[in-house]
Amino acid sequence: MSKKITNNMHNYNSNNLLESQNYCSERDKRNIDRLSTMHSNERKINMNEFGNFDMHELGNYREVSGIYEECSEFENHKTMDDISSFDYNNANYITGDNSQIINRDLFDVHQIRQDFPILSRLINGKPLIWLDNGATSQKPKVVIDAISNYYSQYNSNVHRGVHTLSQEASELFDKARREVASFINGSEKEIIFVKGATEGLNLLANTIGMQKVNAGDDILITQLEHHSNILPWRKLAQEKNANLKIIPIDSNGDIVMDVYSNMLSEKTKIVSLAHIANSLGTLVPVESMIQQAKMHGAITILDGAQSIPHIKIDVQELGCDFFVFSGHKMFAPTGTGVVFGREDLLKNSIPYQVGGGMIHDVKYEQVKYAESPYVYEAGTANLADIEGLRAAIGYLNKLDMNNVENHEHDIVQYAYEQMKNLDHVKIIGNPVNRVGVLSFIVNGIDNNEVGKKLDEEGIAVRTGHHCAQPSIRSFGIEGTVRASFAFYNTHDEVDKFIDVLRKIR
Ligand SMILES: Cc1ncc(COP(=O)(O)O)c(C=O)c1O
Repeated sequence: MSKKITNNMHNYNSNNLLESQNYCSERDKRNIDRLSTMHSNERKINMNEFGNFDMHELGNYREVSGIYEECSEFENHKTMDDISSFDYNNANYITGDNSQIINRDLFDVHQIRQDFPILSRLINGKPLIWLDNGATSQKPKVVIDAISNYYSQYNSNVHRGVHTLSQEASELFDKARREVASFINGSEKEIIFVKGATEGLNLLANTIGMQKVNAGDDILITQLEHHSNILPWRKLAQEKNANLKIIPIDSNGDIVMDVYSNMLSEKTKIVSLAHIANSLGTLVPVESMIQQAKMHGAITILDGAQSIPHIKIDVQELGCDFFVFSGHKMFAPTGTGVVFGREDLLKNSIPYQVGGGMIHDVKYEQVKYAESPYVYEAGTANLADIEGLRAAIGYLNKLDMNNVENHEHDIVQYAYEQMKNLDHVKIIGNPVNRVGVLSFIVNGIDNNEVGKKLDEEGIAVRTGHHCAQPSIRSFGIEGTVRASFAFYNTHDEVDKFIDVLRKIR
Protein backbone atom coordinates (compact mmCIF):
# COMPACT_ATOMS: atom_id res chain seq x y z
CA MET A 1 0.00 0.00 0.00
CA SER A 2 1.48 3.32 -0.95
CA LYS A 3 1.86 6.07 1.62
CA LYS A 4 -0.20 8.38 -0.60
CA ILE A 5 -3.20 6.08 -0.41
CA THR A 6 -2.65 5.49 3.28
CA ASN A 7 -2.73 9.17 3.91
CA ASN A 8 -5.93 9.48 1.95
CA MET A 9 -7.59 7.17 4.41
CA HIS A 10 -8.31 10.00 6.78
CA ASN A 11 -10.88 11.28 4.30
CA TYR A 12 -12.83 8.10 4.82
CA ASN A 13 -16.57 8.39 5.20
CA SER A 14 -17.97 5.55 7.24
CA ASN A 15 -21.42 6.01 5.64
CA ASN A 16 -20.00 4.65 2.41
CA LEU A 17 -18.75 1.50 4.05
CA LEU A 18 -21.51 -0.84 2.93
CA GLU A 19 -21.07 0.18 -0.66
CA SER A 20 -17.33 -0.33 -0.46
CA GLN A 21 -17.71 -3.79 0.97
CA ASN A 22 -18.89 -5.01 -2.43
CA TYR A 23 -15.31 -4.58 -3.61
CA CYS A 24 -13.78 -6.65 -0.88
CA SER A 25 -13.30 -10.23 0.19
CA GLU A 26 -14.57 -11.55 3.52
CA ARG A 27 -11.20 -10.83 5.08
CA ASP A 28 -11.18 -7.30 3.71
CA LYS A 29 -14.59 -6.70 5.25
CA ARG A 30 -13.24 -7.56 8.64
CA ASN A 31 -10.51 -5.00 8.17
CA ILE A 32 -13.04 -2.42 7.06
CA ASP A 33 -15.09 -3.15 10.14
CA ARG A 34 -11.98 -2.57 12.16
CA LEU A 35 -11.39 0.70 10.41
CA SER A 36 -14.93 1.82 10.97
CA THR A 37 -14.57 1.34 14.70
CA MET A 38 -11.24 3.13 14.73
CA HIS A 39 -12.56 6.20 12.97
CA SER A 40 -14.97 8.69 14.28
CA ASN A 41 -17.57 9.92 11.81
CA GLU A 42 -15.95 13.24 11.23
CA ARG A 43 -12.76 11.63 9.93
CA LYS A 44 -13.28 10.74 6.29
CA ILE A 45 -11.45 8.41 3.98
CA ASN A 46 -11.94 8.85 0.27
CA MET A 47 -13.68 5.62 -0.66
CA ASN A 48 -12.62 5.93 -4.30
CA GLU A 49 -9.23 4.86 -3.11
CA PHE A 50 -10.51 1.70 -1.53
CA GLY A 51 -10.28 -0.41 -4.65
CA ASN A 52 -6.64 0.51 -5.08
CA PHE A 53 -5.00 -1.07 -2.12
CA ASP A 54 -4.72 -4.44 -0.47
CA MET A 55 -6.76 -4.49 2.72
CA HIS A 56 -4.73 -7.45 3.96
CA GLU A 57 -1.93 -5.06 4.68
CA LEU A 58 -3.92 -2.85 7.01
CA GLY A 59 -2.46 -4.63 10.00
CA ASN A 60 0.87 -3.06 9.20
CA TYR A 61 -0.48 0.44 9.69
CA ARG A 62 -1.60 2.40 12.64
CA GLU A 63 -3.11 5.78 13.20
CA VAL A 64 -0.67 8.54 14.03
CA SER A 65 -2.26 11.93 14.60
CA GLY A 66 -5.30 10.95 12.54
CA ILE A 67 -3.23 9.59 9.68
CA TYR A 68 -2.25 6.02 9.03
CA GLU A 69 1.50 5.59 9.01
CA GLU A 70 3.53 2.49 8.39
CA CYS A 71 4.08 0.91 11.76
CA SER A 72 7.50 -0.61 12.06
CA GLU A 73 6.57 -2.41 15.28
CA PHE A 74 4.58 -4.75 13.12
CA GLU A 75 6.88 -4.63 10.14
CA ASN A 76 7.51 -8.35 9.98
CA HIS A 77 3.83 -9.17 10.25
CA LYS A 78 1.71 -9.36 7.19
CA THR A 79 -1.67 -9.29 8.91
CA MET A 80 -3.12 -8.49 12.29
CA ASP A 81 -3.51 -12.24 12.85
CA ASP A 82 0.25 -12.58 13.08
CA ILE A 83 0.71 -10.01 15.80
CA SER A 84 0.21 -12.57 18.56
CA SER A 85 3.84 -13.44 18.06
CA PHE A 86 4.89 -9.79 18.16
CA ASP A 87 7.97 -9.22 20.25
CA TYR A 88 7.94 -5.83 21.96
CA ASN A 89 11.52 -6.36 23.06
CA ASN A 90 12.80 -6.37 19.52
CA ALA A 91 10.57 -3.64 18.19
CA ASN A 92 11.54 -0.30 16.86
CA TYR A 93 9.19 2.45 17.84
CA ILE A 94 7.72 5.24 15.84
CA THR A 95 7.37 8.50 17.65
CA GLY A 96 3.91 9.95 17.86
CA ASP A 97 4.63 13.25 16.19
CA ASN A 98 7.19 12.85 13.49
CA SER A 99 7.39 9.13 12.80
CA GLN A 100 11.14 9.03 13.22
CA ILE A 101 12.58 5.76 14.37
CA ILE A 102 14.42 6.25 17.61
CA ASN A 103 17.95 5.03 17.90
CA ARG A 104 17.83 3.49 21.35
CA ASP A 105 21.62 3.43 21.63
CA LEU A 106 21.46 7.18 22.29
CA PHE A 107 19.30 8.26 25.21
CA ASP A 108 17.74 11.26 23.54
CA VAL A 109 15.13 12.42 26.03
CA HIS A 110 13.53 14.84 23.55
CA GLN A 111 12.88 12.08 21.07
CA ILE A 112 11.79 9.67 23.78
CA ARG A 113 9.19 12.17 24.96
CA GLN A 114 7.49 11.94 21.60
CA ASP A 115 6.50 8.36 22.42
CA PHE A 116 4.20 9.79 25.14
CA PRO A 117 1.17 11.52 23.62
CA ILE A 118 0.09 13.15 26.88
CA LEU A 119 3.40 14.99 27.22
CA SER A 120 2.32 17.25 24.35
CA ARG A 121 -0.71 18.47 26.29
CA LEU A 122 -1.08 22.02 27.39
CA ILE A 123 -2.29 22.66 30.94
CA ASN A 124 -3.58 26.17 31.58
CA GLY A 125 -2.03 27.10 28.26
CA LYS A 126 1.43 25.87 29.33
CA PRO A 127 3.25 22.69 28.29
CA LEU A 128 2.57 19.92 30.81
CA ILE A 129 5.49 19.23 33.15
CA TRP A 130 4.66 15.90 34.77
CA LEU A 131 6.40 15.68 38.14
CA ASP A 132 3.84 13.34 39.73
CA ASN A 133 5.45 10.12 38.57
CA GLY A 134 5.41 8.72 42.10
CA ALA A 135 1.61 8.70 41.91
CA THR A 136 1.51 7.25 38.41
CA SER A 137 3.60 7.32 35.26
CA GLN A 138 2.56 8.38 31.77
CA LYS A 139 2.15 5.74 29.07
CA PRO A 140 4.01 5.45 25.77
CA LYS A 141 1.95 4.98 22.63
CA VAL A 142 3.15 1.41 22.27
CA VAL A 143 1.36 0.59 25.55
CA ILE A 144 -1.81 2.41 24.55
CA ASP A 145 -1.77 0.61 21.18
CA ALA A 146 -1.19 -2.78 22.79
CA ILE A 147 -4.42 -2.47 24.80
CA SER A 148 -6.45 -1.38 21.81
CA ASN A 149 -4.90 -4.10 19.66
CA TYR A 150 -5.77 -6.72 22.26
CA TYR A 151 -9.42 -5.73 22.28
CA SER A 152 -9.66 -5.38 18.52
CA GLN A 153 -7.89 -8.65 17.70
CA TYR A 154 -7.67 -11.09 20.62
CA ASN A 155 -10.39 -10.38 23.15
CA SER A 156 -11.22 -13.70 24.71
CA ASN A 157 -10.76 -15.52 28.00
CA VAL A 158 -7.57 -17.46 28.67
CA HIS A 159 -6.86 -21.10 29.48
CA ARG A 160 -10.55 -21.86 29.03
CA GLY A 161 -11.26 -22.42 25.35
CA VAL A 162 -10.17 -24.55 22.42
CA HIS A 163 -11.13 -21.86 19.92
CA THR A 164 -8.53 -19.74 18.14
CA LEU A 165 -9.03 -16.49 20.03
CA SER A 166 -8.75 -18.18 23.40
CA GLN A 167 -5.60 -19.95 22.27
CA GLU A 168 -4.08 -16.71 21.01
CA ALA A 169 -5.07 -14.74 24.12
CA SER A 170 -3.62 -17.52 26.31
CA GLU A 171 -0.40 -17.39 24.32
CA LEU A 172 -0.12 -13.62 24.93
CA PHE A 173 -0.90 -13.99 28.64
CA ASP A 174 1.73 -16.72 29.09
CA LYS A 175 4.21 -14.66 27.15
CA ALA A 176 3.57 -11.67 29.43
CA ARG A 177 4.36 -13.83 32.47
CA ARG A 178 7.63 -15.00 30.89
CA GLU A 179 8.64 -11.46 29.97
CA VAL A 180 7.84 -10.08 33.44
CA ALA A 181 9.90 -12.91 34.95
CA SER A 182 12.83 -12.18 32.71
CA PHE A 183 12.59 -8.42 33.42
CA ILE A 184 13.28 -9.01 37.13
CA ASN A 185 15.33 -12.22 36.75
CA GLY A 186 12.73 -14.57 38.23
CA SER A 187 11.11 -17.60 36.66
CA GLU A 188 7.60 -17.67 35.23
CA LYS A 189 6.26 -19.95 37.99
CA GLU A 190 7.24 -17.23 40.44
CA ILE A 191 5.09 -14.49 38.87
CA ILE A 192 1.56 -13.84 40.15
CA PHE A 193 -0.54 -11.20 38.40
CA VAL A 194 -2.47 -8.87 40.71
CA LYS A 195 -4.02 -5.45 40.23
CA GLY A 196 -1.24 -3.51 41.93
CA ALA A 197 1.20 -3.36 44.82
CA THR A 198 -1.62 -2.91 47.33
CA GLU A 199 -3.31 -6.11 46.27
CA GLY A 200 0.07 -7.86 46.16
CA LEU A 201 0.90 -6.93 49.76
CA ASN A 202 -2.57 -7.95 50.93
CA LEU A 203 -2.12 -11.24 49.11
CA LEU A 204 1.16 -11.87 50.95
CA ALA A 205 -0.28 -10.97 54.36
CA ASN A 206 -3.20 -13.32 53.75
CA THR A 207 -1.15 -16.25 52.43
CA ILE A 208 2.44 -16.50 53.61
CA GLY A 209 1.77 -14.10 56.51
CA MET A 210 -1.28 -16.00 57.68
CA GLN A 211 0.71 -19.22 57.47
CA LYS A 212 3.95 -18.16 59.16
CA VAL A 213 2.89 -15.67 61.85
CA ASN A 214 1.63 -16.87 65.22
CA ALA A 215 0.75 -15.22 68.54
CA GLY A 216 3.70 -13.35 70.04
CA ASP A 217 5.69 -13.27 66.75
CA ASP A 218 7.16 -10.06 65.31
CA ILE A 219 6.46 -8.46 61.93
CA LEU A 220 8.96 -5.72 61.02
CA ILE A 221 8.36 -2.79 58.69
CA THR A 222 10.17 0.56 58.44
CA GLN A 223 9.03 4.04 59.36
CA LEU A 224 9.16 4.87 55.64
CA GLU A 225 6.30 2.66 54.47
CA HIS A 226 3.38 3.54 52.25
CA HIS A 227 0.08 2.72 53.96
CA SER A 228 -0.20 -0.29 51.64
CA ASN A 229 2.79 -1.84 53.39
CA ILE A 230 1.53 -0.93 56.86
CA LEU A 231 -2.15 -1.80 56.98
CA PRO A 232 -2.09 -5.43 55.75
CA TRP A 233 0.56 -6.22 58.41
CA ARG A 234 -1.23 -4.28 61.12
CA LYS A 235 -4.40 -6.24 60.36
CA LEU A 236 -2.52 -9.54 60.38
CA ALA A 237 -0.78 -8.68 63.66
CA GLN A 238 -4.16 -7.90 65.24
CA GLU A 239 -5.74 -11.08 63.94
CA LYS A 240 -2.84 -13.24 65.10
CA ASN A 241 -2.09 -11.42 68.32
CA ALA A 242 1.40 -10.73 66.96
CA ASN A 243 3.54 -7.56 67.20
CA LEU A 244 3.99 -5.01 64.42
CA LYS A 245 7.37 -3.37 65.04
CA ILE A 246 8.64 -0.27 63.27
CA ILE A 247 12.29 0.08 62.20
CA PRO A 248 13.08 3.77 62.86
CA ILE A 249 14.56 6.36 60.50
CA ASP A 250 16.92 9.21 61.41
CA SER A 251 16.45 12.91 60.70
CA ASN A 252 17.76 12.44 57.14
CA GLY A 253 15.18 9.77 56.40
CA ASP A 254 17.68 6.87 56.49
CA ILE A 255 17.13 3.60 58.33
CA VAL A 256 18.84 3.40 61.73
CA MET A 257 20.65 0.16 61.00
CA ASP A 258 21.94 -0.59 64.52
CA VAL A 259 18.44 -0.46 65.89
CA TYR A 260 17.23 -2.72 63.08
CA SER A 261 19.90 -5.32 63.83
CA ASN A 262 18.90 -5.35 67.47
CA MET A 263 15.21 -5.73 66.65
CA LEU A 264 15.76 -9.02 64.82
CA SER A 265 15.27 -12.25 66.79
CA GLU A 266 13.92 -15.74 66.36
CA LYS A 267 10.46 -14.21 66.88
CA THR A 268 10.84 -12.17 63.64
CA LYS A 269 8.72 -13.95 61.04
CA ILE A 270 8.24 -11.25 58.39
CA VAL A 271 10.40 -8.29 57.35
CA SER A 272 8.56 -6.19 54.77
CA LEU A 273 10.48 -3.18 53.43
CA ALA A 274 9.92 -0.32 51.03
CA HIS A 275 12.71 -0.59 48.46
CA ILE A 276 12.44 3.13 47.74
CA ALA A 277 10.31 5.38 49.96
CA ASN A 278 7.60 7.20 48.04
CA SER A 279 7.52 10.10 50.51
CA LEU A 280 11.26 10.96 50.58
CA GLY A 281 12.97 8.96 47.85
CA THR A 282 15.19 7.06 50.31
CA LEU A 283 16.82 4.05 48.66
CA VAL A 284 16.71 1.58 51.55
CA PRO A 285 19.81 -0.66 51.97
CA VAL A 286 17.65 -3.72 51.45
CA GLU A 287 20.39 -6.20 50.50
CA SER A 288 22.07 -5.93 53.88
CA MET A 289 18.72 -5.85 55.71
CA ILE A 290 17.55 -8.99 53.88
CA GLN A 291 20.78 -10.82 54.70
CA GLN A 292 20.37 -10.05 58.38
CA ALA A 293 16.70 -11.02 58.39
CA LYS A 294 17.52 -14.35 56.77
CA MET A 295 20.03 -15.17 59.49
CA HIS A 296 17.03 -15.15 61.81
CA GLY A 297 14.90 -17.24 59.46
CA ALA A 298 12.47 -14.41 58.59
CA ILE A 299 10.54 -14.14 55.31
CA THR A 300 11.66 -11.04 53.40
CA ILE A 301 9.35 -8.91 51.27
CA LEU A 302 10.19 -5.86 49.19
CA ASP A 303 7.60 -3.26 48.23
CA GLY A 304 9.07 -2.34 44.85
CA ALA A 305 6.30 0.06 43.78
CA GLN A 306 8.77 2.98 43.66
CA SER A 307 11.89 1.10 42.60
CA ILE A 308 10.67 -0.80 39.52
CA PRO A 309 10.32 2.34 37.33
CA HIS A 310 13.70 3.76 38.32
CA ILE A 311 16.34 1.07 38.76
CA LYS A 312 17.20 -2.33 37.31
CA ILE A 313 15.60 -4.99 39.48
CA ASP A 314 17.24 -8.39 39.88
CA VAL A 315 15.42 -10.43 42.51
CA GLN A 316 18.29 -12.92 42.71
CA GLU A 317 20.80 -10.20 43.54
CA LEU A 318 18.42 -8.59 46.02
CA GLY A 319 17.98 -11.96 47.71
CA CYS A 320 14.37 -11.26 48.73
CA ASP A 321 11.70 -13.95 49.07
CA PHE A 322 9.00 -11.72 47.59
CA PHE A 323 9.00 -8.57 45.45
CA VAL A 324 5.80 -6.64 44.75
CA PHE A 325 5.09 -3.85 42.27
CA SER A 326 2.40 -1.94 40.37
CA GLY A 327 2.37 -1.75 36.57
CA HIS A 328 0.99 1.78 36.42
CA LYS A 329 4.07 3.27 38.05
CA MET A 330 6.29 1.69 35.39
CA PHE A 331 4.58 3.10 32.28
CA ALA A 332 2.09 0.20 32.05
CA PRO A 333 -1.70 0.40 32.49
CA THR A 334 -3.49 0.83 35.80
CA GLY A 335 -4.94 -2.36 37.24
CA THR A 336 -1.80 -4.38 36.65
CA GLY A 337 0.68 -5.53 39.25
CA VAL A 338 2.96 -8.39 40.10
CA VAL A 339 3.99 -10.47 43.08
CA PHE A 340 7.26 -12.28 42.56
CA GLY A 341 7.60 -15.12 45.09
CA ARG A 342 10.23 -17.79 45.51
CA GLU A 343 8.87 -20.98 44.02
CA ASP A 344 9.39 -23.16 47.12
CA LEU A 345 7.50 -20.66 49.29
CA LEU A 346 4.62 -20.20 46.83
CA LYS A 347 4.28 -23.95 46.38
CA ASN A 348 3.70 -24.51 50.06
CA SER A 349 1.42 -21.60 50.90
CA ILE A 350 -2.36 -21.26 51.01
CA PRO A 351 -4.70 -19.62 48.45
CA TYR A 352 -5.71 -15.98 48.80
CA GLN A 353 -9.00 -15.70 46.96
CA VAL A 354 -10.87 -18.73 45.64
CA GLY A 355 -12.98 -19.21 42.52
CA GLY A 356 -12.58 -20.00 38.83
CA GLY A 357 -9.26 -20.68 37.18
CA MET A 358 -7.34 -21.77 40.30
CA ILE A 359 -8.46 -25.39 40.66
CA HIS A 360 -7.79 -28.87 39.28
CA ASP A 361 -11.00 -30.44 40.50
CA VAL A 362 -14.03 -29.31 42.49
CA LYS A 363 -16.42 -31.52 44.45
CA TYR A 364 -18.66 -30.14 47.16
CA GLU A 365 -16.78 -32.27 49.67
CA GLN A 366 -13.27 -31.67 48.40
CA VAL A 367 -11.31 -29.28 46.19
CA LYS A 368 -7.99 -29.91 44.49
CA TYR A 369 -6.26 -26.62 43.82
CA ALA A 370 -4.07 -25.80 40.82
CA GLU A 371 -0.35 -25.31 41.36
CA SER A 372 1.25 -21.90 41.84
CA PRO A 373 1.14 -19.27 40.42
CA TYR A 374 -2.40 -20.09 39.17
CA VAL A 375 -3.66 -20.97 42.64
CA TYR A 376 -3.18 -17.28 43.56
CA GLU A 377 -5.03 -15.93 40.53
CA ALA A 378 -8.72 -16.70 41.06
CA GLY A 379 -11.04 -15.25 38.42
CA THR A 380 -10.34 -13.60 35.08
CA ALA A 381 -7.15 -11.58 35.03
CA ASN A 382 -6.85 -8.07 33.59
CA LEU A 383 -5.83 -9.53 30.25
CA ALA A 384 -5.73 -6.50 27.95
CA ASP A 385 -3.84 -4.39 30.46
CA ILE A 386 -1.38 -7.21 31.08
CA GLU A 387 -0.68 -7.08 27.35
CA GLY A 388 -0.04 -3.35 27.95
CA LEU A 389 2.35 -4.31 30.77
CA ARG A 390 4.17 -6.60 28.35
CA ALA A 391 4.51 -3.70 25.92
CA ALA A 392 5.84 -1.43 28.71
CA ILE A 393 8.48 -4.01 29.61
CA GLY A 394 9.50 -4.28 25.96
CA TYR A 395 9.72 -0.51 25.86
CA LEU A 396 11.88 -0.29 29.01
CA ASN A 397 14.14 -3.08 27.76
CA LYS A 398 14.70 -1.06 24.61
CA LEU A 399 15.52 2.06 26.60
CA ASP A 400 17.75 -0.01 28.91
CA MET A 401 17.20 0.46 32.64
CA ASN A 402 20.81 1.54 33.07
CA ASN A 403 20.13 4.52 30.79
CA VAL A 404 16.92 5.24 32.69
CA GLU A 405 18.72 5.18 36.03
CA ASN A 406 21.59 7.39 34.87
CA HIS A 407 19.36 10.00 33.27
CA GLU A 408 17.05 10.19 36.28
CA HIS A 409 19.90 10.40 38.74
CA ASP A 410 21.24 13.30 36.77
CA ILE A 411 17.86 15.07 36.68
CA VAL A 412 17.08 14.61 40.38
CA GLN A 413 20.55 15.75 41.37
CA TYR A 414 20.19 18.79 39.10
CA ALA A 415 16.86 19.68 40.72
CA TYR A 416 18.23 19.10 44.24
CA GLU A 417 21.25 21.35 43.68
CA GLN A 418 19.00 24.21 42.60
CA MET A 419 16.28 23.67 45.18
CA LYS A 420 18.65 23.63 48.13
CA ASN A 421 19.67 27.20 47.24
CA LEU A 422 16.13 28.54 47.56
CA ASP A 423 15.97 30.18 51.01
CA HIS A 424 12.20 29.92 51.33
CA VAL A 425 12.10 26.19 50.45
CA LYS A 426 12.95 23.39 52.89
CA ILE A 427 13.75 19.97 51.49
CA ILE A 428 12.37 17.21 53.71
CA GLY A 429 14.75 14.30 54.14
CA ASN A 430 18.32 14.09 53.00
CA PRO A 431 18.93 10.36 52.53
CA VAL A 432 22.34 8.97 51.60
CA ASN A 433 20.85 7.57 48.39
CA ARG A 434 17.90 9.44 46.94
CA VAL A 435 15.93 8.10 43.97
CA GLY A 436 13.24 9.85 41.98
CA VAL A 437 11.77 12.16 44.64
CA LEU A 438 12.19 15.61 46.15
CA SER A 439 9.81 16.35 49.03
CA PHE A 440 9.70 19.92 50.29
CA ILE A 441 7.72 22.66 51.97
CA VAL A 442 7.60 26.37 51.19
CA ASN A 443 7.89 28.62 54.23
CA GLY A 444 4.56 30.08 55.28
CA ILE A 445 2.58 28.72 52.33
CA ASP A 446 0.17 25.83 52.49
CA ASN A 447 1.24 22.78 50.46
CA ASN A 448 -1.99 22.72 48.44
CA GLU A 449 -1.53 26.39 47.61
CA VAL A 450 1.97 25.63 46.31
CA GLY A 451 0.54 22.73 44.27
CA LYS A 452 -2.12 25.01 42.74
CA LYS A 453 0.38 27.71 41.84
CA LEU A 454 2.59 25.14 40.14
CA ASP A 455 -0.45 23.77 38.28
CA GLU A 456 -1.23 27.25 36.97
CA GLU A 457 2.11 26.97 35.17
CA GLY A 458 1.38 23.46 33.87
CA ILE A 459 3.48 21.71 36.53
CA ALA A 460 1.90 18.66 38.22
CA VAL A 461 3.19 17.67 41.67
CA ARG A 462 1.56 15.86 44.57
CA THR A 463 0.75 17.55 47.85
CA GLY A 464 -0.22 16.01 51.19
CA HIS A 465 0.91 12.96 53.13
CA HIS A 466 1.50 10.74 50.08
CA CYS A 467 -0.23 7.80 51.79
CA ALA A 468 2.77 7.59 54.12
CA GLN A 469 1.56 9.55 57.16
CA PRO A 470 3.87 8.01 59.78
CA SER A 471 6.93 8.78 57.67
CA ILE A 472 5.93 12.41 57.05
CA ARG A 473 4.87 12.90 60.69
CA SER A 474 8.30 11.78 61.87
CA PHE A 475 9.48 15.17 60.55
CA GLY A 476 6.92 16.97 62.72
CA ILE A 477 4.73 17.93 59.75
CA GLU A 478 1.50 16.68 58.21
CA GLY A 479 2.41 16.90 54.55
CA THR A 480 4.83 18.04 51.88
CA VAL A 481 4.90 18.99 48.22
CA ARG A 482 6.43 16.13 46.27
CA ALA A 483 8.14 16.42 42.90
CA SER A 484 8.74 12.93 41.52
CA PHE A 485 10.66 12.32 38.32
CA ALA A 486 10.84 9.84 35.44
CA PHE A 487 13.20 9.26 32.53
CA TYR A 488 11.19 11.56 30.25
CA ASN A 489 11.78 14.63 32.43
CA THR A 490 14.29 17.14 31.13
CA HIS A 491 16.72 19.70 32.50
CA ASP A 492 14.57 22.40 30.88
CA GLU A 493 11.58 21.21 32.86
CA VAL A 494 13.59 21.35 36.07
CA ASP A 495 14.66 24.91 35.22
CA LYS A 496 11.04 25.92 34.67
CA PHE A 497 9.92 24.20 37.87
CA ILE A 498 12.62 25.91 39.96
CA ASP A 499 11.83 29.21 38.30
CA VAL A 500 8.16 29.00 39.29
CA LEU A 501 9.06 27.79 42.78
CA ARG A 502 11.41 30.74 43.24
CA LYS A 503 8.48 33.11 42.72
CA ILE A 504 6.05 31.35 45.09
CA ARG A 505 6.30 33.34 48.28
C1 LIG B 1 5.92 2.55 48.04
C2 LIG B 1 4.52 2.27 47.59
N1 LIG B 1 3.95 1.12 47.93
C3 LIG B 1 2.71 0.80 47.55
C4 LIG B 1 1.96 1.67 46.80
C5 LIG B 1 0.58 1.30 46.40
O1 LIG B 1 0.52 1.15 45.00
P1 LIG B 1 -0.89 0.93 44.27
O2 LIG B 1 -1.76 2.07 44.68
O3 LIG B 1 -0.53 0.94 42.83
O4 LIG B 1 -1.41 -0.39 44.72
C6 LIG B 1 2.50 2.90 46.43
C7 LIG B 1 1.72 3.89 45.68
O5 LIG B 1 2.01 5.06 45.65
C8 LIG B 1 3.83 3.20 46.82
O6 LIG B 1 4.41 4.36 46.50
